[in-house]
Amino acid sequence: MRYSLSEISAIIRDRRTVQPKDFSPRQVAREVIDQVLGNAIWAPTHGMTQPWRFTVYTGAARERLSRFLGEEYKRTTVPERFLQRKYDNHVQRPLQSTVVVALGMARDPQGKIPLHEEQYAVACAVQNMHLTCAAYGLGAFWSTGAVITGEAMVRFLGMGAEDRCLGLFYMGYPAGEWPKGYRRPLPDVVQYVEE
Ligand SMILES: Cc1cc2nc3c(=O)[nH]c(=O)nc-3n(C[C@H](O)[C@H](O)[C@H](O)COP(=O)(O)O)c2cc1C
Repeated sequence: MRYSLSEISAIIRDRRTVQPKDFSPRQVAREVIDQVLGNAIWAPTHGMTQPWRFTVYTGAARERLSRFLGEEYKRTTVPERFLQRKYDNHVQRPLQSTVVVALGMARDPQGKIPLHEEQYAVACAVQNMHLTCAAYGLGAFWSTGAVITGEAMVRFLGMGAEDRCLGLFYMGYPAGEWPKGYRRPLPDVVQYVEE
C-alpha cells in the first residue's frame, strides 16, 4: 500500500453535494481554489488533450454571471414553462457562493479524441475537485441544465464554437451539519463473472 486507504476511502465516501443556499458566507480562499484546480488537472485524459478550461468567478464577477443566467433562462424559456423558482435559483446561486467555477471543455483542433471522451476527462477532473473540496470541509454543487450548458454560455465564457460548458461548480462551507450520503448496497450493482 502506498497511501492510507482508510483516508482516501473516507474522503471518497464523505464527499457531499451541498447546494449554494446551504453555504455559509465564509469566503473560500484563493489558495484553496488553486489547490482544488491544481488537483483537477491531474485527471486522466485520452491522448493528453487536457481539455478542461476553468473560468473562476469571484467577487463582483459573480453578479455578471448571475445576470447572464437569469436573462438566459428568460430568453430560452417559453412563458408557459417559466418557473419563478428556477429563475431565482439561476440568479441567486452565484451570489450565495463566494466562488463559482465554469467547467469548460476545449475541443482538440484535430478532433482526434471523440467528444464524449473529452467530456469523460472533464468529469474526472470535476471529481478531483469535489474530493479536494471534501478534504477542506467544503461542500460543492455541480450544476448542469440547458442554460448552463448551452451555446450562449460558451460564448459568455469567451470559448470557441466547438467548445462546451459542462456545468457550473459551486463551492462553499456548509452553514449547518455536514450532510449524510447514501448509496445502494454494492451487491445491487456488481456481478462477478468467474466461469
Ligand atoms: C454530471 C452531474 C450533474 C449534476 N447536476 C446536478 C444538477 O443540475 N442539479 C442538482 O440538484 N444536482 C446535480 N448533481 C448532483 C447530484 O444531485 C448529487 O451528486 C447526488 O444527489 C448525490 O449526492 P452526493 O453528491 O452528495 O453524493 C449533478 C451530479 C453530476 C455527477
